[in-house]
Amino acid sequence: MTRKGIILAGGLGSRLHPTTLATSKQLLPIYDKPLIYYPLSVLMLTQIREVLIISTPDDLPRFQALLGDGRQLNMSFTYATQKEPRGIAESFLIGADFIGRDPVTLILGDNLFYGDSLAQRLATAASKPQGAAIFAYWVPEPGSFGVVEFDRNGRPQAIVEKPEHPNSNYAVTGLYFYDNDVIDIARSLRPSARGELEITSINQIYLERGLLTVEVLRRGVAWLDTGTADAMLDAANFVAAIERRQGLKIACIEEVAWRLNWIDDEGLQRLAEPLKNTSYGRYLIDLLRRSSDDPFSPTVALRGRYRTPSPTAE
Ligand code: DAU
Repeated sequence: MTRKGIILAGGLGSRLHPTTLATSKQLLPIYDKPLIYYPLSVLMLTQIREVLIISTPDDLPRFQALLGDGRQLNMSFTYATQKEPRGIAESFLIGADFIGRDPVTLILGDNLFYGDSLAQRLATAASKPQGAAIFAYWVPEPGSFGVVEFDRNGRPQAIVEKPEHPNSNYAVTGLYFYDNDVIDIARSLRPSARGELEITSINQIYLERGLLTVEVLRRGVAWLDTGTADAMLDAANFVAAIERRQGLKIACIEEVAWRLNWIDDEGLQRLAEPLKNTSYGRYLIDLLRRSSDDPFSPTVALRGRYRTPSPTAE
């Protein structure tokens, strides 16, 4: 069984009008790269190589132009449309054939995660053979999210979508791990009062079956929402601050593929070439130069060995 990935990148983007009147929110930049790179890199860090991207009929061709068929990253990208925003859970109906008999991870195209322990948390969630795993994150105003209520022992009791009077500060993030039953569960849903197939209903069903794990992401992990102009600016400033300080990029998909050994030095060089007049492209080229001399570099951590200097980096 190979876990599949879905990025849901549709919706009307109406909270960002007029900016999103003629383009998709998930194609807008967060600092130095399109928003969709952030959730895509999370799937990659979960070791997911087959990804379905769902968006509106108008926007889908632009995602295809940006990301292609994925072969450049040694991945596979397929595309499907969602005609109307009929709910996040519709992803599993649209994606049923793509998912086949495999487990699946869904990430919302506008969610940004960053933190040291993230890759490990993702691996744990992905390794569950049965049931569902979701992540909860403390926020000061949880009312605009799905909210998880816990009992005294930290066991989830209920999940409520956008409660008027939240009983907890734990918001459900837009990253969901499911076994293959999610397709049948999604088929059984009826639209909610607001006319959507709710992802919260799916999570509630897993909870009732005793098959839902809720992992709390602590403050060492950043989960940023990009729902408003202010939130997008905050996210961009956050990414810029970390990237400038460390000289390392967040969610640079070419770098992630290379560090995971999905592409080799030549592959990275090929991707960098058309971008070489940009700081993004120069960053990719610099990776090849500096990878061999830092024993603590993430390259070593991820690849588990020292890299030999690339001939292209001489
Ligand atoms: O971000 C996490 C939250 O995402 C969760 O806490 C909530 O439980 C979940 O319902 C969702 O809440 P939002 O209010 O953020 O959902 P929104 O309708 O804004 O959709 C999230 C993204 O998914 C957005 O970029 C648009 C896209 N989308 C949404 C729907 C409903 C689609 O592509 N198609 C859809 O049908």
